[in-house]
Amino acid sequence: MVIGVIGAGTMGSGIAQIASTQGCQVVLFDKNPKVLQQSKEKLEKILNRLIEKSRLTEEEKLDIINRITYSKDLKDFKTAEFCIEAIIEDLEVKQQVFKDLEQIISKDAVIATNTSSLSIASIASALKHPERCLGVHFFNPAPLMPLVEIIPAVQTDKIVFDQIFEMIKSWGKTPVRAKDTPGFIVNRVARPFYGEALRILEEDIADVATIDWAMTALGHFKMGPFQLMDFIGHDVNYAVTETVFKAFYYDPRYKPSFTQKRLAEAGYLGRKTGKGFYDYNNESINPKP
Ligand code: NAI
Repeated sequence: MVIGVIGAGTMGSGIAQIASTQGCQVVLFDKNPKVLQQSKEKLEKILNRLIEKSRLTEEEKLDIINRITYSKDLKDFKTAEFCIEAIIEDLEVKQQVFKDLEQIISKDAVIATNTSSLSIASIASALKHPERCLGVHFFNPAPLMPLVEIIPAVQTDKIVFDQIFEMIKSWGKTPVRAKDTPGFIVNRVARPFYGEALRILEEDIADVATIDWAMTALGHFKMGPFQLMDFIGHDVNYAVTETVFKAFYYDPRYKPSFTQKRLAEAGYLGRKTGKGFYDYNNESINPKP
């Protein structure tokens, strides 16, 4: 099967790795050639670590790498049977990419979006054939996280939904059907987790490290809210909160934070830029509780 992945950032790279590991031919596209090169280098590092842990052979590594084509041209998606988009969380940009894509792929190809919060119905409405479109929402890091939310839009053909649900299951993931509502399941539950932590910080009740420590050491969460936001990326996390807030008619429960907005504006996006709430270039200076 040929899989087209649009966007070679955090999520697109992970999804490409999963599909290739499952034996699919993958075309991974990004408008930024630098990102494609980084994605390639990152995959090699990840696979080398798996070899060190004896979870992969050298031969399997080469097969995974060789099944991925890095592309700067959407026209390379001509033979793709399943395309998944993981680009910037912006409705108009996603709609434009879907319009461009539909002119290239075959009429039977399925188009999915990895959006965290946007309406699948709105994204699908950009297509001439929206019945072939649905949400397939992986979690970060995609190769490790079992859950995948599968979201049919009102336009989605039931056969397409069933086919993709089964495909994701056959990739060793745990697909769960979710309704096309803002944030679906996990991102809706997670909003107050981030939002309340940011409010506690802004009200000067406790600092970042103390809140994270309380939630991990005492609350038994794998990551505290600030570690998690740094991991996700503040541009992405802020955009998701803003979308959910607007989509729920400005319900104050989902109100975005200026503190996070400023980090996104400054380019302190978290791990991916080396700095967010924590400084990843100089971990020793990070505050300890
Ligand atoms: P990212 O910022 O790491 O990567 C996005 C990539 O898309 C960048 O490499 C950028 O060059 C590329 N891009 C932007 N516009 C493009 C266009 N018009 N054509 C081609 N490429 C384009 O973002 P990330 O974190 O991978 O998120 C992507 C999507 O996945 C978003 O919709 C986000 O909401 C969703 N998502 C993110 C998660 C996370 O934890 N970061 C988790 C689950 C979903």
